[in-house]
Amino acid sequence: MAACVALIVAAGSGSRVDAPLPKQYLRLDGRTLLAHAARALSTHPAIDATRVVIRAGDDDLYRDAVAGLDLLDPVPGGAERQESVRLGLQSLAAEAPDRVLIHDAARPFVAPEMVDRLLAALADHAGAVPALPVADSLKRGADGRVAGELDRAGLWRAQTPQAFRYADILAAHRAAAGSALTDDVAVAIRGGLEVVLVAGDAAAFKVTTPDDLRLARALAGATAGETRTGAGFDVHAFADGDHLFLCGVRLPHDHGLAGHSDADVGLHALTDALLGAIGEGDIGDHFPPGDPRWAGAPSATFLAHAGDRVAARGGAIVNLDVTLICQTPKIAPHRAAMRDRIAAILSLSPDRVSVKATTTEGLGFTGRGEGIAAQATATVRLRAPGGERPA
Ligand code: CTP
Ligand code: MG
Repeated sequence: MAACVALIVAAGSGSRVDAPLPKQYLRLDGRTLLAHAARALSTHPAIDATRVVIRAGDDDLYRDAVAGLDLLDPVPGGAERQESVRLGLQSLAAEAPDRVLIHDAARPFVAPEMVDRLLAALADHAGAVPALPVADSLKRGADGRVAGELDRAGLWRAQTPQAFRYADILAAHRAAAGSALTDDVAVAIRGGLEVVLVAGDAAAFKVTTPDDLRLARALAGATAGETRTGAGFDVHAFADGDHLFLCGVRLPHDHGLAGHSDADVGLHALTDALLGAIGEGDIGDHFPPGDPRWAGAPSATFLAHAGDRVAARGGAIVNLDVTLICQTPKIAPHRAAMRDRIAAILSLSPDRVSVKATTTEGLGFTGRGEGIAAQATATVRLRAPGGERPA
């Protein structure tokens, strides 16, 4: 039983952003809004599983957007946000989590500390909402003129994720079905639940208009935070076989590669480069070679894990570069597929990934055709110590 599930609603059409795609599938840096949100929540240590609610017909957009993330299968939403949430909650009946965090896909920036605050509050209350006090003066408008003043004292702007005990909020949603409430706190309050305010985060704003999208892109691209680089190197010897895996792509060949996992020397070098950039050891620390669980394992698992570690640190991958060093097989015909595969494993835009190859002019062990070597570099941006989020 999963104790804590994140439910992300992404079944809207994003009409107010007025873009060719629903806003949750627009890209900020290399990644979609949805991928930002899903990655932040699914890699949070207190969250056991993450499910996204999507529009009927968006399956292909969804699959591309979240490639490489470890999520439950998506479920279809409804015509109103409230209905999408209810359908999402109902779909979790089998998981029967204790707690659920309900989040808008349109809010790409979820600070892990905000999730911590929400879950801490949930220990003593039926619900918790991140919120910011209203800072601007409030006016009532009529026909383009100011028609009155509103007192902003005691007014808060509610954000998501909103945290509840699963059984409570499911019951409240069932009771309130059809009333088109715009958030789950409204549903909870109608159901008689007590919801506490916890500190929100200015970066957790909802992308609603083209202006918001520009702001989110600026924030995602901001160079605040620090840039780090890691290097990786790996070698595998040729062995009997008729195919091998290089950079996640299966190639027919007159030899295989020897190794405990699928021996993908390119993905291993990349995994080490990423772990190196964040100072978290090497692939063997995370996936011990003697551990039977990793025998024959697809190396995509290792690379995706390193990507998750970067995300868990509040970081983002800037770019990756891998060089395969071998006499055979010929890499050039497969470079594009390798680049796309690496990008998909890490939910990156392919233009952030480079795959190159070289021979050693017949010299050394690769030149003699005894094996394949790979070297890689990874550049990542990590949050600055002050907490600025890079992307
Ligand atoms: N949402 C949903 N199902 C709906 C409507 C909205 O899952 N029927 C989701 C959106 O995808 C978004 C969140 O609820 O992540 C907040 O809604 P909103 O900002 O209103 O998004 P949209 O409805 O997509 O945008 P718009 O109202 O501008 O069309
Ligand atoms: Mg809407």
